[in-house]
Amino acid sequence: MFDLNEILRDNIRSLKPYTSARDEYKGSEGIFLDANENSFGSTSKIEHNRYPDPLQWEMKIELARIKGCDENQVFVGNGSDEAIDLLFRCFCNPGVDNIIITPPTYGMYEVSANINDIHLKRVLLIPDFSLDENAVLKAVDEHTKMIILCSPNNPTGNCLSTKAIEKIVSNFRGIVVLDEAYIDFAPKKSFLPKLNHYHNLVVLHTFSKAWGLANLRLGLAFASKEIIHVLNKVKPPYNISGLSQKIALEAMKNEKLKDELVKNILEEREKLEQELEKLPFVTKIYPSDANFLLVKTLDGRRLYHYLIEHKVIVRDRSNVKLCEGCLRITVGTASENETLIKELKSFKG
Ligand SMILES: Cc1ncc(COP(=O)(O)O)c(C=O)c1O
Repeated sequence: MFDLNEILRDNIRSLKPYTSARDEYKGSEGIFLDANENSFGSTSKIEHNRYPDPLQWEMKIELARIKGCDENQVFVGNGSDEAIDLLFRCFCNPGVDNIIITPPTYGMYEVSANINDIHLKRVLLIPDFSLDENAVLKAVDEHTKMIILCSPNNPTGNCLSTKAIEKIVSNFRGIVVLDEAYIDFAPKKSFLPKLNHYHNLVVLHTFSKAWGLANLRLGLAFASKEIIHVLNKVKPPYNISGLSQKIALEAMKNEKLKDELVKNILEEREKLEQELEKLPFVTKIYPSDANFLLVKTLDGRRLYHYLIEHKVIVRDRSNVKLCEGCLRITVGTASENETLIKELKSFKG
């Protein structure tokens, strides 16, 4: 059985969190002389002199409505990267504990583990990019605190099998982080409705992809309210700016626009795939459930540099294990994709 108290780091279990002025008084009326703000105003045209809501409640209520969960099951971070870093700091003892990732996958898991001095175990995906759930569970030892899975996975683009993920979540006593940054582009359903069933599950979403708000730096973690409470204890008090909260709230009131953007991207992805297929040096285009395509080519490195010379920037994944020769190409607008294809057609492969 999963026991949150058991896997928490000792210093976090006993941590008395910082209480900010706005944690103690919740009202909006009165004369605020409690937080050493500038009472006279701001140097900007729009007033930004007051600290924002440290727990972003308005945002969370809206998020809970959209995602179909409780507002106490939501954590908002300065990008998903903040949530990943906090999870390491809450659960993994530096120099002692380890986590498991399944490469090829999103690079920040490894970087964040290295920053936090957490040992990393790698269990490669199978060459068709599916999850080897038995190998993952076999790699678990007494110091394994977390398993991070990414579905749809970056850079491979595919969703992992629901059954395989569930096997891992059910049989592991630590935290399973399921990064669903690209889930809005996938035909598969999110794991969010299963949160109440799996108390060791943390699901990550982001405003950076389907919502088109990467500039705001808003990442989301969904989990049991006990896990969210721990993340809130450890996060910097005002981690999300008032401006970001305001813009996200406006965006969420217009969810249809997000759906339209997703539809456009999926249509363009299909067209882009058809054009890429015709190129003689493209040997494989992997099926994608995300807003990018992983494309295997005869000489990825050379193609990458050729494209840069022509001012088209893609992601070179040609040195990544199981992705040899591959470029990861984000789906652009119709005209951006046309330019990409035009340049590729002139490439002497
Ligand atoms: C799988 C995955 N998770 C998370 C992120 C980062 O999200 P955020 O912008 O919220 O930090 C990315 C960005 O590329 C990603 O590919």
